[in-house]
Amino acid sequence: ALALVGPRDLAGRHVVVSAGGTREPLDPVRFLGNRSSGRQGVALARTALARGAQVTLVAANMSVPAPPGVDVVQVETAAELRDAVRTAAKVADVVVMAAAVADYRPATIVASKIKKRADGSAPPLELVQTTDILAELARDRPRPGQLVVGFAAETGDDEGSVLDHGRAKAARKGADLLVVNPVGDGKGFGAETNEVVVLDGTGELVARFAGSKDDVAHAVWDAVLAASEHGVI
Ligand code: CTP
Ligand code: CA
Repeated sequence: ALALVGPRDLAGRHVVVSAGGTREPLDPVRFLGNRSSGRQGVALARTALARGAQVTLVAANMSVPAPPGVDVVQVETAAELRDAVRTAAKVADVVVMAAAVADYRPATIVASKIKKRADGSAPPLELVQTTDILAELARDRPRPGQLVVGFAAETGDDEGSVLDHGRAKAARKGADLLVVNPVGDGKGFGAETNEVVVLDGTGELVARFAGSKDDVAHAVWDAVLAASEHGVI
């Protein structure tokens, strides 16, 4: 392999990245899911590897392949993703939650395929909240001094701007860094360039960035290293 690949400034660090979107089963053939491809998580994994890190990718139903050279743990559901991230996090210096995790799952998984009702009625669907994996990691760190990073796609609305929502979420989650991605108006999903703002745990702006998913990934690792120089990890 070519050695001229830029700084290996993550050498000696172990990073965990979650990517993709969880699927919550309803019955043996159906699930509640989301459209996350895993591309941003894969970019984070690939760039961390290029910068010398040991990388564990917790991959939930990605529509793109994992980069060669990373340790992959395949998961389906939010509960499986939580277990895999918590296990991997025990030996990690940094955990980045780039996965789109279901906020709700069906209260029960029906053992056999749900049949269509003959009378034309629809069955009720009861949902329960999943565990907030990021908030839980930030609250009780599996490893002292570990850096925890979240991602949030936000739209501005009557309640406030993208930045307002990002700040409130940063405070609520307690992560060290929250990468906020404005979506809607042709931004985000499927767009060529991503715009991100990086906030610290108090909601302070630490970086602003626009570029490809790889550029964003590098900017995230730069922010992680800057935070670690300030003594967070
Ligand atoms: N996240 C998580 N566990 C969940 C839900 C979300 O770890 N059950 C993580 C995501 O991986 C992401 C961050 O939390 O890093 C923000 O996700 P987001 O969906 O924006 O946050 P929520 O608190 O679920 O808020 P919202 O109401 O906007 O969905
Ligand atoms: Ca959510």
